[in-house]
Amino acid sequence: MPLPYSEIVMEHFRNPRNVGRIEDADAKSIEGSPACGDMVAVYLKVDPESLRIDDVKFESYGCASNIATGSIITEIAKGKTLDEAKTITWKQASEALGGLPPIKTHCSVLAVDGLRAAIQNYEERHGLVKERVPTTVEVVRKRLKHVMNPMTGLDLVRTKVVSDIQVADGVVRVSIDLPADHQFANNMRDEIVEKIEPLWDVHKVVVEFTE
Ligand code: FES
Repeated sequence: MPLPYSEIVMEHFRNPRNVGRIEDADAKSIEGSPACGDMVAVYLKVDPESLRIDDVKFESYGCASNIATGSIITEIAKGKTLDEAKTITWKQASEALGGLPPIKTHCSVLAVDGLRAAIQNYEERHGLVKERVPTTVEVVRKRLKHVMNPMTGLDLVRTKVVSDIQVADGVVRVSIDLPADHQFANNMRDEIVEKIEPLWDVHKVVVEFTE
């Protein structure tokens, strides 16, 4: 049975605004939904003086609700300051879309989390993080849950390829239980470094392939 989507959802799904990637983005994020395994990527261009979002684009690997939410929240976020855009909620997005079926709440949450993670990425890269929580093994593990294992489409932690994490004196070591000449090794290393390096107290990320 088709889901009872509103006219607005269908319109945004058929003609999504701000779809695509920004090649020279100032910040980006890739978020996955634990509920369905779908993903969304968000890219930002930010004015460094006013901290306003000059441009925002998204790529969705999710469903119609996720695409429609990505479309509406990027419209709402464009031109706002980072602090203003941070306050956009999935509820606000869902209301602007004329409502979403309750079973589709996580799709909307995924899009909003993607936007928030991109904003956080900008703040980390530009020393704007207000709450400076020290990086621990748990913090690193949480971030690795957002790095996909290209062999499975699920994250590195869930697919149990992370065999060790060490954090000491600003150096983070991540051991991956795969051979160094694995076809996706370089790609995984780049993604891990990209996720961990922006943390305020990390100055080096070492990724070792240990199989
Ligand atoms: Fe996965 Fe909607 S079902 S994003």
